[in-house]
Amino acid sequence: MDTNQQANAQQIALWNGSAGRGWVEAQESLDRLFEPFEDLLVQAVAERKAQRVLDIGCGTGSTTLAVAEQLANTKGSAVGLDISEPMIALAKRRAELTSAPPHFICADAQTHAFEPASFDMIVSRFGVMFFDDSVRAFANLRRAAAPGAALHTIVWRSAADNSFMTAAERAAAPFLPEIPKRQPDEPGQFAFADRDRVYSILEKAGWSEIDIRPLDVACTLPEHELNDYIARLGPLGRVLPQLDEQKRARIIEAVRTAFEPFVHGAEVRFTAACWTVGARAPR
Ligand SMILES: C[S@@+](CC[C@H](N)C(=O)[O-])C[C@H]1O[C@@H](n2cnc3c(N)ncnc32)[C@H](O)[C@@H]1O
Repeated sequence: MDTNQQANAQQIALWNGSAGRGWVEAQESLDRLFEPFEDLLVQAVAERKAQRVLDIGCGTGSTTLAVAEQLANTKGSAVGLDISEPMIALAKRRAELTSAPPHFICADAQTHAFEPASFDMIVSRFGVMFFDDSVRAFANLRRAAAPGAALHTIVWRSAADNSFMTAAERAAAPFLPEIPKRQPDEPGQFAFADRDRVYSILEKAGWSEIDIRPLDVACTLPEHELNDYIARLGPLGRVLPQLDEQKRARIIEAVRTAFEPFVHGAEVRFTAACWTVGARAPR
């Protein structure tokens, strides 16, 4: 994929590089961690009786595969779309092992030429906060949505509300001052933290019946997977592979201490503070 002079060039480079690699390597662990959100999306699809479902920023495909399985009973179909080639490649490999394989596309949701009005539901688990022009991206998705189609996405609330998610970079900052600080509203994990901003993006993009609600979900991770999680994901996961082994081990050890409040015996527990972002395409 040519990343020069195109929309979302920075995010495309990131998700085809270190971030994509981290998510591919940690796929099983991340899918277990975020399974409660997958269940919520599948439930929403069932409640809406949607038949043609698009999963945006589907990554390694877990939610798309789960939706496809749900739709298999009703002869519905699921499509997963993502800008990350390695993540989509893994999603495709996983689909080959299922009896109701969804279709996976490697493309940018902001600019992809979807067939107009071709989906009656658009879902996403943490895959819509990375656009450099969110209004344009959601307008593009609205055109892909059939009249009356539902939008149902899950996004993170603020970094302050999600201390587990930022514990690693805070603890590593003294060792690694070069780790870029997260800027509010910039494309990334917490870009949709501000509810009013998200409302305004959807309104400008032509969605109606916008409904944004807090969603707090208890998440767990086996304690023995925590070091891997720290080393592979988030801003720290991007920097650590570039360091020599000794420095890496020292930082992981120091950062690990910052996670102690979340460790309960063999389990790591935290509450994910999110929004459910719902809307409808105009009829
Ligand atoms: C935090 S991951 C979530 C992946 C997946 N939804 C899951 O829950 O496992 C965010 C995903 O959004 C994708 N993404 C970022 N910008 C995108 C864009 N413009 N178009 C499509 N996908 C995008 C990334 O490649 C990445 O797979």
